[in-house]
Amino acid sequence: MNTVKSPPFLRSSRARNSGFSLLALQSFSLFPVLLEARHISRAWGAGTILDDVSFRIQAGESTAITGPSGSGKTTLLSILALLLRADSGSILINGWDSLALSDAERAFVRNTFFGFVFQTAQLIGSLTVLDNVLLPSLLAGRAARERGHVRSAHDCRHRARALLDRLGLAERAAHLPHMLSNGQRRRVALARALLLRPPVVLADEPTNDLDPRNAAAVADFLLGLPAGGHALVLVSHDPELAVRANNRWRLEAGHLTPASPGEATFTRSPANPETASQL
Ligand SMILES: Nc1ncnc2c1ncn2[C@@H]1O[C@H](COP(=O)(O)OP(=O)(O)OP(=O)(O)O)[C@@H](O)[C@H]1O
Ligand SMILES: [Mg+2]
Repeated sequence: MNTVKSPPFLRSSRARNSGFSLLALQSFSLFPVLLEARHISRAWGAGTILDDVSFRIQAGESTAITGPSGSGKTTLLSILALLLRADSGSILINGWDSLALSDAERAFVRNTFFGFVFQTAQLIGSLTVLDNVLLPSLLAGRAARERGHVRSAHDCRHRARALLDRLGLAERAAHLPHMLSNGQRRRVALARALLLRPPVVLADEPTNDLDPRNAAAVADFLLGLPAGGHALVLVSHDPELAVRANNRWRLEAGHLTPASPGEATFTRSPANPETASQL
């Protein structure tokens, strides 16, 4: 039985928002390890997908996870983002064990701390592109908006339009998702994930479905995030994308191991000051 106590500021619902807002704000300075997976195991039915997986994510770094189809990469990202529970092991957010959080607190942390780019875009079909991008500001509430420095409705719309512009979708703001290509929908999902400037961005196959030019633009965009203090975790089958991350891991047969030395010459993310400053 886990005996870790919840963070003191989360013990009353009154303190919950201010507590986690503070926690998230501290993340860039006091706690370089934003996210830690400790001995995570997970099965689907009888099949073990993740077997004692441990690793850390630091502010200002990019991490790439590769592995064969079906090896559990999406499962791992979902557990990291508190979308899915592990069977055993724990996820630490800024050093706090997420096992100690209630469902409501988990939801709050999920909305405040993470930007998740899903493997499929998962946009809401009845909302315009702009409103899809704005969704996190409606769902996450004031604390998350303040943490992301997008406090007012006007700030949110301004940032949403700026992100769409950066991603080449300025002309599409009023369109509905069904009017877009797959690749365009993926970019809308990316803008949505970044709206509230989350400390940790998790991207599942972010360049899938994109032509080479747009894939390169999205890769540059994502890999510029760590220069602004974010942590980036990306899952990809694309070796050219993975090779640009600071840290590279391979997930196979349930185990997460550093990418093979021949493959892994660890490099700094190509910090693109122009990209970072615009985010
Ligand atoms: N909701 C679910 N119910 C049952 N099994 C699942 C579920 N989600 C995933 N799995 C199984 O877990 C395994 C890992 O799936 P996961 O989607 O994490 O793999 P992946 O590495 O992301 O694959 P891909 O590269 O194809 O996206 C697969 O065998 C899959 O069938
Ligand atoms: Mg997957």
